[in-house]
Amino acid sequence: MKTLNTETETRREAVESMFNSIAGRYDFLNRLLSFGTDRCWRRKAVGVIAGKYKNPYILDVATGTADLAIEAVKTAGARVVGIDISAAMLEAGRKKIVRHRLGEQIGIVMAGAEAIPFMAGVFDVAMVAFGVRNFASPQAGLQEMHRVLKDGGMIMVLEFSRPQGFPFRHLYGFYFTKVLPLVGCLFSGNRKAYRYLPDSVLAFPDNEAFIGMLSAAGFSGISQMRLTGGIASIYTGFKTPAQ
Ligand SMILES: C[S@@+](CC[C@H](N)C(=O)[O-])C[C@H]1O[C@@H](n2cnc3c(N)ncnc32)[C@H](O)[C@@H]1O
Repeated sequence: MKTLNTETETRREAVESMFNSIAGRYDFLNRLLSFGTDRCWRRKAVGVIAGKYKNPYILDVATGTADLAIEAVKTAGARVVGIDISAAMLEAGRKKIVRHRLGEQIGIVMAGAEAIPFMAGVFDVAMVAFGVRNFASPQAGLQEMHRVLKDGGMIMVLEFSRPQGFPFRHLYGFYFTKVLPLVGCLFSGNRKAYRYLPDSVLAFPDNEAFIGMLSAAGFSGISQMRLTGGIASIYTGFKTPAQ
């Protein structure tokens, strides 16, 4: 089992405590702040997987309240293991899985992306939605996702990216940095968490820079699909079979 250095451990604890504190309002605020678009993005992301695999075995990293895992079972007939570091997010996910009667298809484990507690070469697909920018060490998390994939297996990352064109980029920038933190704070009571959201997105590599991170983690055949004018992107890549 890998161990984390002190700086990584401190960052991870801060992120864990933030998600523990907003878990109860997380789904509601996702729907509100994205005007429901987050659901379409997850559906599209899982559609990409369903287009390539029938009944895949999937690792959902940073599964949170399990929305992506549930979508993967419903759309791709997947069996899913979800991992996350936040006990409160996982508990909300567990209740939702029970409500959807998907306890047979989805298992959840408390674990971090930087030290995934599974053997190498196990999963057909490793996926993560809106999680990678929160990892204490995103590059280590991507490498771990690469390790647990079978040869030829696929990574799918759904993450915020920054829209490019005028005037959409400016309108979105205003909404994302001014309106969203205010509404998020009002409904969650956590000012820090909804200030962290735009700050973490603006600081995280997107487009070519993120493709570079996937490539450095060992993935090939990488592609990016921009969603809703580039507000979010689906990145896919493959674990090259060993020679
Ligand atoms: C924005 S939520 C996304 C949840 C879910 N994937 C979704 O689409 O709604 C980010 C999640 O990442 C989890 N997380 C943050 N750092 C992590 C890490 N190092 N390893 C695993 N999960 C992590 C958080 O606890 C939180 O549940």
